[in-house]
Amino acid sequence: MSTTMRLDRLLANMGYGSRRDVQQMVRHGCVVLDGAEVKNAEMRLPIGPDLVARMQVNGAALDPPPGMAIMLHKPLGATCSHKEAGALVYDLLPARWRLRDPAVSTVGRLDKETSGLLLLTDDGGLLHRIISPKKHVSKRYLATLARPLEGHEAGQFASGELMLEGEEKPLLPAKLEPLSERQAWLTITEGRYHQVRRMFAAIGNHVEALHRDRVGGLDLPADLAPGEIRLMGPDDVAAVFAGGPA
Ligand code: URA
Repeated sequence: MSTTMRLDRLLANMGYGSRRDVQQMVRHGCVVLDGAEVKNAEMRLPIGPDLVARMQVNGAALDPPPGMAIMLHKPLGATCSHKEAGALVYDLLPARWRLRDPAVSTVGRLDKETSGLLLLTDDGGLLHRIISPKKHVSKRYLATLARPLEGHEAGQFASGELMLEGEEKPLLPAKLEPLSERQAWLTITEGRYHQVRRMFAAIGNHVEALHRDRVGGLDLPADLAPGEIRLMGPDDVAAVFAGGPA
């Protein structure tokens, strides 16, 4: 069953202006559907990704309708916040996308000094499914460490007994795959605050650099440069849930 919505409300919610602005755009012939100028701003439309190919606004293809998911190659230095001072990940989105209702939000967070794959969506149900502990969506990080690995770390992380400072519940088992003396992949299925940095701190090491390259079974595309975004298709969304537990 597809949801329908009045055109003026849809475009207003997508950041094109107030409802009154949209009505005026329609009067001026700026909204085209299936090759013909829309005459009635109150017409109801089925909401779905196919609208992008069917509708143009001011001569350009419609933005992705509600229900969108995006991958961003988060650069170092950008904060996952709507409000803080300094560079925000939301500044990397097209300006109009920042005016949308429902708003586009990050799926969980990466620290300011972590780079890599960050998902964003305006779909609250999808967001909840990805971060829900019940879904066990794994996240893989490349950690660069201050001190050499000593050989005991993988066992400690896999034990299901490691405690983070100030917490009462041990961490779920996590998978460490050393790459070199001071670099390793770490795959976790939880999303505790600063989890990876605190895990290494808990065993006497220190993370110097952190990069996430995979969420579930979805890899950061090799051709997505830092700061770039890409819309996710249904296959990308399915891949997030295809990774299985670490
Ligand atoms: N763990 C961290 O410590 N930082 C992140 O950004 C993500 C996971």
